[in-house]
Amino acid sequence: MTDSPIHDAVVERQTPRADFSIDQCWSEYTADEHAVWDLLYARQLEILADRAAPEFLNGLKKLELSRSGIPDLNRLNPALKAMTGWEIVMVPHLVPDDVFFTHLANRRFPAGRFIRRRNQLDYLQEPDVFHDIFGHVPMLANPIFADYMQAYGQGGLRALALGTLKNLARLYWYTVEFGLINSADGLRIYGAGIVSSFGESQYALEDKTPNRIKFSLERIMQTEYEIDEYQKTYFVINDYEQLFDATQQDFGPIYDRLKAQSQTFGTADVIKQDDLI
Ligand code: PHE
Ligand code: FE
Repeated sequence: MTDSPIHDAVVERQTPRADFSIDQCWSEYTADEHAVWDLLYARQLEILADRAAPEFLNGLKKLELSRSGIPDLNRLNPALKAMTGWEIVMVPHLVPDDVFFTHLANRRFPAGRFIRRRNQLDYLQEPDVFHDIFGHVPMLANPIFADYMQAYGQGGLRALALGTLKNLARLYWYTVEFGLINSADGLRIYGAGIVSSFGESQYALEDKTPNRIKFSLERIMQTEYEIDEYQKTYFVINDYEQLFDATQQDFGPIYDRLKAQSQTFGTADVIKQDDLI
């Protein structure tokens, strides 16, 4: 946890564009960096085969992410773009909120270029190319989820202007990053923060400790989260339409209501309205 951010000379020598994007310079990844990707990929695939949502596994396959090495955006982007109109842009590190939302609103997903080192396979402070591409990109090949992500970017710009980002950020956390879905084959993972984590992919589905609560938009918007440990609560959707439909409504009145109530739930709280799984 006291690790300093990973040093990536290809990132550091570049001056980012106004939208914070940089070039991937794929040919400059080292053999060892590609090997770390392969190691992470093989490890995740084994545990995700019967844990990840079918849409995630399908996205991996359609985008041919099983090819060896860190994906080359010159190959991946045309494929993703043909499927849902999304593309990935490389950024040096986390970008400011408005920049992030503007990318999403334009169907661009910002991804870190660097990859974690071998001594950090399980925990990172900042998202790397494995989390961002392996974790997030397969779901962007799904048309409904792709639309949800774009709408989220537009909603983010609005929430920034309204001063309600805290509420909206919780929605991203508990869906895009840590979402579970009730699939025909039972509980499965679609959240990028889980699928890119060896330990949490097992814990999220099998451990007895965390709460698994049916998706509720306002409940999520009132729930705190912790970024440096496994989640104490997961929210479960029935399908992506539910997520998309629930977020199509105008959030203005919801934000007003949440402001008036100023009720916040802790990460492990269970309340009487919760529908537990
Ligand atoms: N409907 C939301 C609003 O009015 C925008 C949004 C869409 C937010 C999808 C998140 C996800 O602000
Ligand atoms: Fe992420």
